[in-house]
Amino acid sequence: MPSANKPMIAEPYRARLEALMAGGGRKILGIVGPPGCGKSTLAEALLDFLGERAVAVPMDGYHLANVELARLGRASRKGAEDTFDSAGYVALLRRLKTQPANEIVYAPEFRREIEEPIANAIPVFPETPLVITEGNYLLLDHGHWEQVEGLLDEIWYVDVDHSIRRDRLVKRHVRFGRSLPEAQAWVASTDEPNAVRIEATKSRADVLFNWEGE
Ligand SMILES: Nc1ncnc2c1ncn2[C@@H]1O[C@H](COP(=O)(O)OP(=O)(O)O)[C@@H](O)[C@H]1O
Ligand SMILES: [Mg+2]
Repeated sequence: MPSANKPMIAEPYRARLEALMAGGGRKILGIVGPPGCGKSTLAEALLDFLGERAVAVPMDGYHLANVELARLGRASRKGAEDTFDSAGYVALLRRLKTQPANEIVYAPEFRREIEEPIANAIPVFPETPLVITEGNYLLLDHGHWEQVEGLLDEIWYVDVDHSIRRDRLVKRHVRFGRSLPEAQAWVASTDEPNAVRIEATKSRADVLFNWEGE
């Protein structure tokens, strides 16, 4: 297992990326999997490998703002599929697929320290060949989400042992301010029901990714 900070991408996946990009033009790679499986970590590792050839555009940028979650009465299950602006995310993917040669497209990012999205934080330049987009709900087959798969050129599912994933997720919640019991309760009541729905989409991914490259 590579170090948590700088995990390496195994050779078969590197080769797959090169093949994906070989045709030229804009390509969009999706990374999917349940909460805490390591999607954001993988996206960062891919950026380390690809440098200026790629940019990461997270689905998490489409979290509804906390004020809107309060209005809707959904704050207690933030992270569920109906706590995102799925139509906005689909519209962004469409713009990235048909990006004019002289135009920057701006994407939102999610700031975990404040638990809020920030609009227009990520510039996507027209000449960047690969857009990496990662999130929980790339393979859902209903609502606006069902359009996502058709806008992506390839989708990788991060396949990690359940108990390792849950353990890392609890630790991440604690790192960002929850007590251990609060973190465990949030994972049990909110993250895990979402995880079950996401795991049900696994068979539709093009690639099952694991750090060992097997
Ligand atoms: N390969 C790995 N080895 C060790 N720790 C990891 C690995 N992948 C992810 N993590 C850790 O697990 C937690 C969840 O990973 P993250 O990338 O945030 O997941 P996701 O984006 O899928 O919710 C983070 O704290 C991250 O540092
Ligand atoms: Mg993430």
